[in-house]
Amino acid sequence: MASPQVHVFADAQQVAQAAAERFVAAAAAAIRATGRFSVALAGGSTPQRAYELLADQPLRAQVDWAHVHLFFGDERCVPPTDPQSNFRMASLALLDHVGLPPRNVHRMIGEADPSAAASVYEAELRVFFAAQPWPAFDLLLLGMGDDGHTASLFPGSAALKEQQRWVVANRVEKFQAFRLTLSPPAINAARHILFSVTGPAKAQRLQEVLHGPRDPMRLPSQLISPTGGNLEWLLDKAAAGHE
Ligand code: 6PG
Repeated sequence: MASPQVHVFADAQQVAQAAAERFVAAAAAAIRATGRFSVALAGGSTPQRAYELLADQPLRAQVDWAHVHLFFGDERCVPPTDPQSNFRMASLALLDHVGLPPRNVHRMIGEADPSAAASVYEAELRVFFAAQPWPAFDLLLLGMGDDGHTASLFPGSAALKEQQRWVVANRVEKFQAFRLTLSPPAINAARHILFSVTGPAKAQRLQEVLHGPRDPMRLPSQLISPTGGNLEWLLDKAAAGHE
């Protein structure tokens, strides 16, 4: 695997712009090559600005949305109307504004029984990525928590060791709740993995993840290492510790 590319920008707005532009480029390349673009969205707050940029001109017109398939890397176990829902955040910022065919939006069913929802989502992925050993998303967006988690792969949680399933219901003790998440091998099968990490609160942990000893049970973001694709980190100066 090629070594991760790390790009540092002045601020979170520039990180969002860079992520949105990479989305546009990846979509154009995938649609040109295969007729479709599969992307797994990250949740949380960091990617919201990038989604808003994609929903607005000039970038919105640069994406052939009819051939875009939107998936989620993880989801909270809540209804899609809940303020905690990643689907709700992505809908308000992006999905509601770009005219995606409904069948192209692949929501994790956060309101269902977590184990059942994980199985249903995995089955949906296996149909979309028919006959492939893993879901090879054209683009997979990730964030990182200040505890080093990514997607819903939290320190010490069972999903960190998942090597067979594509999607699991992961018990997260710190929230006393389940989360739905792609497994590490499912994430690592993506063609292009893009982390966006901003803010001073993450600088210390990010330094450990990128440059510290390997300790993925404590630093799950260290599990992200694409098997055949490439990995980029988009950071602002604050997260990179350059301020
Ligand atoms: C989620 C995300 C999660 C997120 C990090 C960072 O469901 O919350 O998938 O992995 O990327 O928690 O969150 P912020 O962007 O809000 O800092």
